Amino acid sequence: MPNVVIVGAQWGDEGKGKVVDLFTEFADVVVRFQGGNNAGHTLVVDGDTTILHLIPSGILHQGKTTVIGNGVVIDPLVLVEEMDLLARKGLEVEGGRMVVSRKAHVIMPWHKRLDLLRERRRAKAAIGTTGRGIGPTYEDKAARQGIRVEELVQPDIFRARVESRLDEVNDVLRGLGGDSFTVDEVVKPYAAAAERLRPLAADAALLLHERIVDGANILFEGAQGTQLDLDHGTYPYVTSSNTVAGNAAIGAGIGPTVIDEVVGISKAYTTRVGAGPFPTEIFGHDGEALREAGSEYGATTGRPRRCGWFDVPVLRYAARANGLTGVALTKLDVLTGLEKVPICTAYRLDGEIIQRFPDDQASLQRVEPVYETMPGWSGSIRTARSYADLPVQARNYVERIEELGGVQVVLVSVGPGRDDTIVRSNPFG
Ligand code: GDP
Ligand code: IMO
Ligand code: MG
Repeated sequence: MPNVVIVGAQWGDEGKGKVVDLFTEFADVVVRFQGGNNAGHTLVVDGDTTILHLIPSGILHQGKTTVIGNGVVIDPLVLVEEMDLLARKGLEVEGGRMVVSRKAHVIMPWHKRLDLLRERRRAKAAIGTTGRGIGPTYEDKAARQGIRVEELVQPDIFRARVESRLDEVNDVLRGLGGDSFTVDEVVKPYAAAAERLRPLAADAALLLHERIVDGANILFEGAQGTQLDLDHGTYPYVTSSNTVAGNAAIGAGIGPTVIDEVVGISKAYTTRVGAGPFPTEIFGHDGEALREAGSEYGATTGRPRRCGWFDVPVLRYAARANGLTGVALTKLDVLTGLEKVPICTAYRLDGEIIQRFPDDQASLQRVEPVYETMPGWSGSIRTARSYADLPVQARNYVERIEELGGVQVVLVSVGPGRDDTIVRSNPFG
């Protein structure tokens, strides 16, 4: 009964949503374990596109349970809006198909305001956050003054918690040049959403435990990516949660021995949205061409994504930090038509060649990518459904990444649709 974790192996937006949707067929429960509605996971099924920010990407499949784990931070307005969006598509989220951990933390209106004020104050050093209040919500959680779903869904307790927080919150907001909140300004807009979420609030960890004991297959859906991990990413240009596979246990409330497989999702090139180090970034015309070919615009904020060539040290780092048992290589189709495809195999640091991704900021700022180039391929690969359907140059590219990265490519994605996929080895067996 394999339990499988799916994580981003780069800077997010690798196609996690697509792969989770695809593998949900083999799972019984799909659980989000960290991040919040900074995530934007795109699912394309029969030409219909759905972008999810909080609801697990397994929701499109009937008969599966979806769980928002304790490690997630939730904007109740966004969650309810997403439930309504799915309802309009004829998908019922309420009525037992989704459970929200009582322990998950609530993104409050002041968290969003603080996020934006802090970014403004950072000026040139801004992180380029999604502005969704993620950082301030996790700060309050760590400071043991956060508001959990359990409290959100009990109106009297929620109001009391807001009252007890607002004094300090308003001082901080004013100190940063922002507007303060009244209790009603906070409580009223959340009241209806809290009503909707009350029946979904549950002991999610217990539910997962019981399902695991029953032999169910659990799929853990990561958000963001390894290089955005709070500890292991390109700090301080990271998000405020641990995105690596180890956090699946903490953020879902199960023990790490339950996890059998960890699949990292990696684009066949790299992208990053927001500021921070990006060794293989392509500037100018070639970068723009890749952005257009891959439609590289953020699923949450619509911002243009920075684009770069495939980075082997990043993959090797992700393999190590997550304990990857396989990698899913997405968007291979986007590279079609290039005469030569560069792969960054190592970095040059102060005249020396290094294979590893540096763990200190100073080195990271100085590394220069070392490239080898592979012959490209032409002619659409969108209809390839078995590995043998791919042109030999595309297969060589995949196998070179496998060889240099030291991790097996278990899946190749050749288009955004659920079916535009070549599964070489299914982690569910
Ligand atoms: P996530 O955050 O990791 O789930 O990824 P996003 O949804 O933010 O971004 C991935 C984008 O690439 C989405 O627009 C997907 O529909 C699209 N996509 C995923 N896989 C492929 C693929 O193999 N080829 C192409 N052309 N697009 C893909
Ligand atoms: P998915 O799950 C790509 C980036 C932001 C910013 C940094 C911090 O769709 O892959 P935050 O709002 O989290 O405080 O922003 O992290 N970021 C993402 N980039 N994909 C995401 O999610 C991201 N979530 C956050 O752009 O650089
Ligand atoms: Mg995304």
